[in-house]
Amino acid sequence: MKVDSDVPHRIVFLYRCSLNDAMTSTCIIGAGYVGLTYAAGLASKNLKVNLVDVNTATIACINKGTCPIDEPGLEKALKDGVKRGLIHGHAILDLVFAESDVFFVCVGTYCDDAGNINLAQVRSVAQAIRDCFKMHPDAGYKVICVKSTVICGTTDSVLLPVIEESGMKAGKDFGVAMSPEFLKEGSALDDILNPDKIVVGGIDQRSIDAVKNVLKAFLKDSDQHKLIETDVRTAELIKYAQNSFLATKISFINEMARFAELFGVNISMVAKAMGMDSRISPKFLNAGPGFGGSCFPKDVKALYSAGKKAGLDPLLLKAVLDVNERQKRHVLELLQQHRQVKGLAVAVLGLAFKANTGDTRESVCRAVIPGLLALGASRVKVHDPSAFAREEVKKDFPPDERLTYHDTIAEAIKGSGACIILTEWDEYKRLKFSEFTTMAGNPCIVDSRRILDRKAFEKSKVQLVILGESESRDFKP
Ligand SMILES: NC(=O)c1ccc[n+]([C@@H]2O[C@H](COP(=O)([O-])OP(=O)(O)OC[C@H]3O[C@@H](n4cnc5c(N)ncnc54)[C@H](O)[C@@H]3O)[C@@H](O)[C@H]2O)c1
Repeated sequence: MKVDSDVPHRIVFLYRCSLNDAMTSTCIIGAGYVGLTYAAGLASKNLKVNLVDVNTATIACINKGTCPIDEPGLEKALKDGVKRGLIHGHAILDLVFAESDVFFVCVGTYCDDAGNINLAQVRSVAQAIRDCFKMHPDAGYKVICVKSTVICGTTDSVLLPVIEESGMKAGKDFGVAMSPEFLKEGSALDDILNPDKIVVGGIDQRSIDAVKNVLKAFLKDSDQHKLIETDVRTAELIKYAQNSFLATKISFINEMARFAELFGVNISMVAKAMGMDSRISPKFLNAGPGFGGSCFPKDVKALYSAGKKAGLDPLLLKAVLDVNERQKRHVLELLQQHRQVKGLAVAVLGLAFKANTGDTRESVCRAVIPGLLALGASRVKVHDPSAFAREEVKKDFPPDERLTYHDTIAEAIKGSGACIILTEWDEYKRLKFSEFTTMAGNPCIVDSRRILDRKAFEKSKVQLVILGESESRDFKP
């Protein structure tokens, strides 16, 4: 639809809404995993997107069509969007404020060490919008939709009042909504383009409709039932409830994996049988080295800490977090049960918190690498297929004579006495025992992702230790 630029903005908006044609001009604030993927997703649906980020290097990358993060399909979609003139990156919100109607806030909401959510980025966006309203009092009705994961009350009692400092009134001059994001890194673009559901909470129906008008681009006509309309606080809690539940499933199966090791049982068979129950489902039932990434750890901690501060005692969330920390330590324990780490050269395969992403935030490698060094490993030789992941980890654990980063798996394992697999990359799943023949002495592999085939290693001199399995039948009740 071509919009005449002489038509006043407010009328353009009403015209667009009345046609219900998802042509609302959209602004995404925060060009990280969520913001970038949304921009690429909306552009793939022929919608124009202004992408704003305070990081000028990120914006320069985007405008060149280069993707600053590692996500399948994202670079191509971004390049297409930029080439077709649908995605424009900006470092200053003011430049695109007047021309945009719906603003999606996709900035980071990190946790401090005590687990409290840090809302500095959300506050700074609210202040930028307030200042834009002050500078452009005639810019027309806007809707601000929070996509960042925020604790209940953030949207209506932190963001909204700051914007109202501009003199504009929520519900009259601007709308406020909250639409939590459920994408998974590693399949982020696909998840946005094919959502299981879209949740939109708003302070009023007008806010909800404006957000729906954009996000419905991702729903086929037959999928309209996947759109859940609610209030802002419910939308905020849905996200935390969902992530806490999935994290609980992971910690649960990890605790069962410890029982499996104790009893001499294979956890895969237990998980398979459990997962066949339609009330349970097989998803998130893979035992492993504990959850990481930018969402589960911080979201469970933030919910726990918000509850604790308010006088609740969230016992289950505390246990989920404790089990997770213990599971990270357990990866090293598995190696220690079979080898003395002091003086040992150890290859670490996998830095990304999961396969198909370059994201290493809260990845288990961040516990395992310093753990190995503290235990006196003579060398820690690190590999990840993602160069992005390697660069990220290098920033926190700079290479030296004991810690080295390698471009190939072969280089990392050559001469190592042990190898720990931390990420379920396909490259590691395909490894054959013959590829470990360059290891030194009497080598040991700790497979914390359970991706290697025990049978294939039976006749080799390599000892394969798989998390969640044990040969021992010593336990007696
Ligand atoms: N990454 C995920 O898998 C995922 C999934 C669902 C929800 N979320 C949630 O979405 C939010 C964003 O996550 P992310 O992983 O994309 O974060 P991110 O750290 O990758 O990106 C945040 C971006 O916001 C930018 N930024 C910070 N302050 C800004 C400001 N004032 N104005 C403009 N830009 C600003 C940063 O420069 C950065 O590029 C978080 O709340 C997260 O919990 C993330």
